[in-house]
Amino acid sequence: MENIFPTTHILQRHDKEKLLDQKGVALWFTGLSGSGKTTIAVALEKELHKKGLLTQVLDGDNIRAGINSNLGFSEADRIENIRRIAEVTKLFVNTGIITICCFVSPTEQIRSLAKKIIGEDDFLEIFINTPLEICEKRDVKGLYAKARRGEIKDFTGISAPFEAPVRPEVELRTNELSVAQSVKQIIEKLKI
Ligand code: ADX
Repeated sequence: MENIFPTTHILQRHDKEKLLDQKGVALWFTGLSGSGKTTIAVALEKELHKKGLLTQVLDGDNIRAGINSNLGFSEADRIENIRRIAEVTKLFVNTGIITICCFVSPTEQIRSLAKKIIGEDDFLEIFINTPLEICEKRDVKGLYAKARRGEIKDFTGISAPFEAPVRPEVELRTNELSVAQSVKQIIEKLKI
């Protein structure tokens, strides 16, 4: 069969987006542990999948069990965590994939690093705004109780800071919205 691509031409993002018939983008979910980032991401991914769109969810728990297993929660380690994640996200976005990133990413500095690496045009900041009291009450993983007892140090919201984003593209007050309503708001913002 005739080779339709010149051997010197590396396929570009545009070629891949054309193949997939979609645009790559990073949906960057930030919020406290237990705020519902992954729950909303999973529901969003299902909706996008139904629409025939290719997605990838990355979250703290799976990334930290794998490529970032050597990192903890000091400020320096959180920065390195997000730097690597942002580089990986960029690869997915450049392949045309809608990449849903669920990371506490607690400071402006950390989120602007992610935005800088991924590129402003491909980065949508989504604030999963669930009050600390609610996250702590849910305490799905039992981590807040441990943090209160001093068994986990530098725990976001308890003994480490969380800076709310100043101008997120989407803000979801999850105590006032169902998961389906949150998903709908994101899809409306994406205009897809
Ligand atoms: S980030 O701050 O570096 O962006 P990341 O999203 O990767 O954090 O990981 C957060 C998850 O790690 C939390 O949902 C929680 O399950 C777990 N975790 C364990 N220790 C901590 C801690 N000290 N602070 C925050 N989350 C922690």
